[in-house]
Amino acid sequence: MKKITKAVFPVAGMGSRFLPATKASPKEMMPVVEKPLIQYAVEEAVAAGITDMVFITGRNKRAIEDHFDKAYELEAELAADGKQELLRIVQEVIPKHVNCIYIRQPEALGLGHAVLCAQPVVNGEPFAVILADDLIDGDMPIIKQMVGVYKRHHCSVLGVQEVPREQTRQYGIVSSTNLEPGVERVNGIVEKPMPAAAPSTLAVVGRYILTPRIFHYLARVKPGAGGEIQLTDGIAALMQEEKLLAYRFNGTRYDCGCKLGYLQAQVAFGLKHPELRDEFAAYLATVK
Ligand code: G1P
Repeated sequence: MKKITKAVFPVAGMGSRFLPATKASPKEMMPVVEKPLIQYAVEEAVAAGITDMVFITGRNKRAIEDHFDKAYELEAELAADGKQELLRIVQEVIPKHVNCIYIRQPEALGLGHAVLCAQPVVNGEPFAVILADDLIDGDMPIIKQMVGVYKRHHCSVLGVQEVPREQTRQYGIVSSTNLEPGVERVNGIVEKPMPAAAPSTLAVVGRYILTPRIFHYLARVKPGAGGEIQLTDGIAALMQEEKLLAYRFNGTRYDCGCKLGYLQAQVAFGLKHPELRDEFAAYLATVK
């Protein structure tokens, strides 16, 4: 069984729900407290033993590359000013043993197409896909939990969560039978069904472990929901050939792809922040 060493981060999306903030800078660089969303996602991968971070980028995304690069001038200035703690924070954005690989997705043709762009560097190995705008806080990082499921079952694993039925049209929805506590055997998956047509309310939320066979199918799927090449459609085809599991992860998910979820994440992470939590909790208690 091959070890999972690579994570794919599709970051080419426009972030139109956060305009004007995302007019000139990537939505993945929006911070929750002081850390950008993409850094939480990369830290989750690092915690799962992943060493190669593959970013599928597009126009206006250079800030992500700069964020994970060495910042010579900034580091020199912080060092000269004796600001050791800030220097450490800047230098620890990416651990030394981690490689960052950038692949440009020339056109935003859909999530499935973005993942397919990773094929030249990922081919032949199982890999993780992490959507940075699904920020998930768990005692054990979610991808690490899912790597555990992969190690036991040797197949693709989708991170899933129950959602209200009226929200099924925002997600890939699975139909499944229970296999063991927290783990489902998937027998169907459909992208963004209307509530009345949804096979269940179990939604895929931005965490995937996929076998490399997915590329075979992604190269062949036709545009689906919204006219886009959907990862969900590739997974539906993969499922005809290979075992596919869904994992009900332990953790709280914040949908940072929408304004309300993003604000909820700020509150939750603010209330956990070592420097801020007491003052912030006291402040919130005064808010009507
Ligand atoms: C994407 C996927 C969808 C998944 C969702 C999770 O949709 O296509 O299957 O449930 O991410 O956040 P998007 O949110 O990009 O529309």
